[in-house]
Amino acid sequence: MSTHAPEDDRKVTTERLREWKGEGRRIAALTAYDALMAEILDRSGVDVLLVGDSCGMVVQGLDTTISVTVEQMLYHCKVVSKVVERALVVCDLPFLSFQVSAEEALRNAGKLMKEAGAEAVKLEGGRQFSEVVRRLTESGIPVMGHLGLTPQWIHRFGTYKVRGRDDAEAQQILEDARHLAQAGAFAIVLEKIPATLGKQVTESIDIPTIGIGAGADCDGQILVTHDMLGLFTKFHPRFVRRYANLAEEMHRAFGDYARDVREGNFPGERESY
Ligand code: KIV
Repeated sequence: MSTHAPEDDRKVTTERLREWKGEGRRIAALTAYDALMAEILDRSGVDVLLVGDSCGMVVQGLDTTISVTVEQMLYHCKVVSKVVERALVVCDLPFLSFQVSAEEALRNAGKLMKEAGAEAVKLEGGRQFSEVVRRLTESGIPVMGHLGLTPQWIHRFGTYKVRGRDDAEAQQILEDARHLAQAGAFAIVLEKIPATLGKQVTESIDIPTIGIGAGADCDGQILVTHDMLGLFTKFHPRFVRRYANLAEEMHRAFGDYARDVREGNFPGERESY
């Protein structure tokens, strides 16, 4: 465990997240797509690991998350859940895996739990998915909602700009959050909305909100791990704080290695038998 790891190393559950909201204890969440990173994240005391469909962008190099499949999420979630001991593992339901019908959503979410060890699923969208959230929750599958800038909706939005700036859309986000909470969601991600709206949503529901560009008053925060490590550098949204510059460090290391090989400086005597 890192020096910043929480003293309480009990398994994180959806129930504990709700208790933490009551106690004002903030939730730290990050994304994970592979076992090596998941193990480091878990041992560092991150509370929630999201196996996000952002893997489409930061791992597969795609421009959007739209083409990520259930099979790909099964793979990523399986390797992550295998090594995680403390964090809650939440897996994204990718585009069109939950929209067609509640039955199909149940089948796909069930697969992620049964075959890949997901402890909860996340879906993007508001009140139109209340029935799906209810069916999954009643079947024993905890659901995390996701409102605001929902990346699977990029072709509908046409832009990655801040959502909920005007009163009508702010009201819609607020009401969607209430609907999702009523339907049984255990938490809601709020992405790229004004901080005042993030605060308003947080105060109006009794389940935790986890913000990504939604201000400091959310019950928790999430970032894409590759963004906060400075590994993914194609763009740098304002809400991302870079805690490291790993891409730079990797460029240096790979460049040094290539030079050493070319110049005959690697391997040396100590690296030879
Ligand atoms: O897929 C993802 O990583 C996400 C986060 C941005 C919340 O949904």
